[in-house]
Amino acid sequence: MGRAKITIVGAGNVGATTAHWCAAAELGDVVLLDIPQAGDMPKGKALDLMQASPIMGFDSNIVGTTDYADTKDSDVVVITAGIPRKPGMSRDDLLGTNAKIVTAVTEEIKKTSPNCIIIVVSNPLDAMVQQAHKVSGFPSNRVIGQAGVLDTARYRTFLAMELGVSVEDVSALLMGGHGDTMVPMPSCTSVGGIPVTRLMSEERLNEIVDRARKGGAEIVGLLKTGSAYYAPAAATTQMVEAIVKDKKRLIPCAAYCDSEYNVGGYYVGVPVILGANGVEKIIELELTEQEQADFKKSVDAVHGLVKTMNELLEG
Ligand code: NAI
Ligand code: 2OP
Repeated sequence: MGRAKITIVGAGNVGATTAHWCAAAELGDVVLLDIPQAGDMPKGKALDLMQASPIMGFDSNIVGTTDYADTKDSDVVVITAGIPRKPGMSRDDLLGTNAKIVTAVTEEIKKTSPNCIIIVVSNPLDAMVQQAHKVSGFPSNRVIGQAGVLDTARYRTFLAMELGVSVEDVSALLMGGHGDTMVPMPSCTSVGGIPVTRLMSEERLNEIVDRARKGGAEIVGLLKTGSAYYAPAAATTQMVEAIVKDKKRLIPCAAYCDSEYNVGGYYVGVPVILGANGVEKIIELELTEQEQADFKKSVDAVHGLVKTMNELLEG
């Protein structure tokens, strides 16, 4: 059996770091693509990364390009193309520009890799993945958004820091959109099997949840020139791994929900089983009244975002 072919569109911070981790984990051969205006930059990053392989001990062919022909018949395509946030910008400020970019990228992908699974990372995530799904015409199990793994990782990091325990022992879930309305689920958060609510006060837990919610903005405020990329790339790599190794990971992803959770045909963060067929199952939990209300608020925010995107694209 040959290696999986993983294309990463956008050779910027998130794209190049995802390429790094996918190659280092030997998930497959990697194609790193950017726009022609980027010149030889993707080629330079790919060659540099290849030259790390004898030292780090990974076998992965890494190609940098501006030509979609090189991405032909990819198994997984990660879309990180677009502009990132600068201080003071919300994810939604990126909407108009990135919607056009994601549309153009998806049109190419659809032609060159008609059987691939697309993982969208570009922001505002919930609208971009909706657009990639629409433009590709792919079945919804093959178009997925990355947000929940990252948001949950932030939440898990802060919980581990607070409790002085290994991050590996913190298991958690967040649902809803990738924005300030994301819904943490304390009822689905445990540390070494112990419900988190038995380890800290509700007040402290709420503070941690709030920091996780604003986790992206915290990094933007520190970096000043762009947004987070190590954790986003790690999150994306985990999704690629789940697909190419058919791991059946149960993780939160932005998945197309229709009757599920009564979402009505939008992408939102929900727990899914991720494997070789992409989203193989959406796990439907019974939500508490509070969780239901918070989730609805988050879904309403995604509706608004998609509506604005469609107006911008039509206008
Ligand atoms: P970046 O500016 O470092 O890289 C973006 C790259 O996309 C640039 O190299 C640019 O030339 C390229 N690009 C622009 N238009 C393109 C096109 N039509 N085709 C191919 N490439 C194109 O930005 P960064 O930090 O890598 O972020 C990328 C995107 O990911 C942003 O929209 C950001 O907001 C989003 N993001 C999403 C996260 C999530 O959890 N979903 C987390 C972190 C970032
Ligand atoms: C983040 O959460 C900017 O969406 C990106 O870091």
